[in-house]
Amino acid sequence: MSEQLIIFDTTLRDGEQSPGASMTRDEKLRIARQLERLKVDVIEAGFAASSNGDFEAVKAIADVIKDSTICSLARANDRDIARAAEALKGANRARIHTFIATSELHMEKKLRMSREQVLEQARQAVRFARNLCADIEFSPEDGYRSDPDFLCRVLEAVIEEGATTLNIPDTVGYAIPELYGNFIRTLRERVPNSDKAIWSVHCHNDLGMAVANSLAGVKIGGARQIECTINGLGERAGNCSLEEVVMAVRTRRDHFGLDVRVDATQIVPASRMVAQTTGFVVQPNKAVVGANAFAHASGIHQDGVLKARDTYEIMRAEDVGWSANKIVLGKLSGRNAFKQRLTDLGVELDSEAEVNAAFLRFKDLADRKSEIFDEDILALVSDEESDQ
Ligand code: KIV
Ligand code: ZN
Repeated sequence: MSEQLIIFDTTLRDGEQSPGASMTRDEKLRIARQLERLKVDVIEAGFAASSNGDFEAVKAIADVIKDSTICSLARANDRDIARAAEALKGANRARIHTFIATSELHMEKKLRMSREQVLEQARQAVRFARNLCADIEFSPEDGYRSDPDFLCRVLEAVIEEGATTLNIPDTVGYAIPELYGNFIRTLRERVPNSDKAIWSVHCHNDLGMAVANSLAGVKIGGARQIECTINGLGERAGNCSLEEVVMAVRTRRDHFGLDVRVDATQIVPASRMVAQTTGFVVQPNKAVVGANAFAHASGIHQDGVLKARDTYEIMRAEDVGWSANKIVLGKLSGRNAFKQRLTDLGVELDSEAEVNAAFLRFKDLADRKSEIFDEDILALVSDEESDQ
């Protein structure tokens, strides 16, 4: 048995922080059900103290979802933490996720607190939370831009108070894979009793590197939890995308050597549900869940895929929830792809000469039309038949 990588989904909390992506209680519950089918380990259902609506959403999810741990975010104060605990009462497995910023910039300009005050507040918050819940995650917000010496002191203190997961956010997406991986490794090496907690990565995508940074945090840094969202939804340029990170770990198991519990066949349904609910359309060339992720348009690729799928496919479309890969017929398509489509459509032409003639008509049409649909082919073949 290999070690397990914990998948912590925060679509309903950090994803919802995307401007324009706010969701109702019922929408969140519907997505939470899909996340449970997807078998994510932890669902961060919301930020219970932020509004009555979010409290109700976290509570409804905690009451109904039984197969994933349900988590609520809370600032590092007693009121937020008590509210999170209250919302999570019905959960089979509950987690409180408390956070406070630790970078000089955030402490000085945003919190207007000294280092010692932040350290003490983090300690107190985890102590208070631990009395209400056995599973406590602590995040030093803007952790990646924090002074490592100070960060080590904070992390040491929260481990002493019983934090079970230490999450190191790259809050503003500033990290570079190798540097972030080394940062996590250094923290793990320097913080006393670091093995008492699970280390987690939480990366934003401002420079387009959230997935790469998260994977480096796992591979180089030794983190064993990844925080991510469906379709990479999240503030600004979004968060680490669940579908990409999960399929990277699965497809390159030879490199990572880790198991994920996720049922990948539920990825595409989850992606569609989140896109539909939030109105955030998935770009066609998005890895794994984009409409073109398994579409082959050039003749050479189509021919290869028809002969052996792994010539141009590193994953199976059906393994992530698509009905099949897609051969897009257009002007670059070859005769083999065209002939295969005729067979798929149940069209049998009498001779190779007829196939050739139909193929020429198809090429002629494709010069005028960017994508040829099944209806076009059927029309083209019936023209062929009626000409005779
Ligand atoms: O990006 C961030 O720092 C966060 C924390 C609250 C975990 O979302
Ligand atoms: Zn975040």
